[in-house]
Amino acid sequence: VVFSNSKDASTTVANEIASLIKSKQAKNELCILGLATGSSPIRVYEELVRQHKEEGLSFKNVVTFNLDEYYFMQPQNAQSYHYFMHEHLFKYIDIEPENINIPKGDIQPEEIYDFCVSYEEKIKSYGGLDFQLLGIGRTGHIGFNEPGSHANSRTRLITLDHITRVDAAPAFLGLENVPKKAITMGIRTVMEAKRVVLLAWGQNKAEIIKETIEGEIDGHVPATYLQNHNNVTFVLDVEAVAEL
Ligand code: GLP
Repeated sequence: VVFSNSKDASTTVANEIASLIKSKQAKNELCILGLATGSSPIRVYEELVRQHKEEGLSFKNVVTFNLDEYYFMQPQNAQSYHYFMHEHLFKYIDIEPENINIPKGDIQPEEIYDFCVSYEEKIKSYGGLDFQLLGIGRTGHIGFNEPGSHANSRTRLITLDHITRVDAAPAFLGLENVPKKAITMGIRTVMEAKRVVLLAWGQNKAEIIKETIEGEIDGHVPATYLQNHNNVTFVLDVEAVAEL
C-alpha cells in the first residue's frame, strides 16, 4: 500500500492496531503485539498515544514483545531500545509493566541462550503474536536478522552488519561506540505472527524495498522471506517505492 506521506500511512497502521486491541477487548482476550524500534514506527506510536489520551484507547489487555536489543546494552542507556520504547510509547499509556517484553541487553554471555529460549517460550505461551510491526534496515534486515539469517532462525544473539553499524553511528556519536552484537527475534518468530506490517519511508529505502518485493527469496536479503507470509502488508510512502 502506497501513501503520499508517512504521516497518513502511520495513522492507518495505528488504526489497524487500535482496532485489533479493541476487538480483543470485546472478546475479553489479550492482544499480543510484536513491536519495532527505529525512526519508521515513531508516528504510529504517536498516534496510538493520541488515541489513548484523547479517545480512551486502553492497553490493559496488551502484551508486547519487542523485536530486538543491542548487546551489550544497559536498559537505562539512551541508545537502548528499552529507553526508546519507554520514551515513544510505554510511559504515556496504561500498559501493565509486566506485560512489556524486550530482549535483555545487559545479561551475561552465559545467560543469553537460556534467555532466548525463554523469550520464544513466552511468545508461544500466549498463542503467538497477533500482529508484528516491522521496519527494514538497508541490509534488508528485519529486527536484527542480518544477511545470512536462516528462515528457521529463532531469538538469538547475532553479529551486526557493518552497514547497520554505520547507519547507527550518528545516534552513538561514532562507529566505535556502536555495539557489535544484538539479540533479535528470528525470521521464524516473525513469520509465525498472524499479521505482519512492514513500514518504510524515504528514498534511502527505495533500493532495499525493490530487492525485498521483486527479488528472489534469499537469506542475503532476509526481508524477502516475508514474500512467503500469508498476511503481510508493506506500508510505504511514494519515495520508498521509487525503484519498483
Ligand atoms: C534498526 C532496528 C530495525 C529497524 C531498522 C530501520 O536496525 N533494529 O528493527 O527496522 O533499524 O530503522 P529506521 O526505521 O530508523 O530506518
